[in-house]
Amino acid sequence: MTAVSTLTDYVQAYEPDIERVLISSEEIQGKLAEMGEQISSDYQGKSLLLVGVLKGAFVVMADLARYVRLPLEFDFMAVSSYGAATKTSGVVRILKDLDHDLDGMDVLLVEDIIDSGLTIKYLLKNLAARKPASLEVAALLRKTGIQKVPLDIRYVGFDIPPDFVVGYGLDFAERYRNLPYIATLKPEAYGG
Ligand code: IMP
Ligand code: MG
Repeated sequence: MTAVSTLTDYVQAYEPDIERVLISSEEIQGKLAEMGEQISSDYQGKSLLLVGVLKGAFVVMADLARYVRLPLEFDFMAVSSYGAATKTSGVVRILKDLDHDLDGMDVLLVEDIIDSGLTIKYLLKNLAARKPASLEVAALLRKTGIQKVPLDIRYVGFDIPPDFVVGYGLDFAERYRNLPYIATLKPEAYGG
């Protein structure tokens, strides 16, 4: 069986679909290192539970965690929002809940991207009801100008224009998650 054998081959296989690289792999790593430093100093002397929102956040969570110099525990939630593939409806359904009891824990919710903000708003309300000692959000990306709800996001990597992006955990129709950078797709790649 012939398979795509290296990451480079894989990235090249997707390259014809890429319109523009918005944030390079090096820029992402540099920013996550800064965020990790800030988190390490803000929570000095504490331990932290990182909660990742599947699936998109698994990549940022893995890299961010290695820039945090604190004892960490990890948990994941899977949610789905009803609606079209490239839009959020605001109605969120929990597909997989946490294994941890949050009572008294310092919790940092890790997200790949905040678009309308409706997903994170729902999750913050849901998790706050479980009485954690603290609850904050770290998001790699935030789209500017279109948050439907005002949100207090403690750690933000990059503010980006409100275009649909893929890579570094973000998908279109489950593809492109393992691109090491953030990019826009050519219209043809949407198959429309
Ligand atoms: P929100 O509820 O509108 O903030 O949507 C957040 C979720 O929608 C993210 O966790 C992503 O799963 C998805 N999403 C929003 N914008 C994009 C994008 O540009 N590319 C890929 N997924 C996105
Ligand atoms: Mg997501």
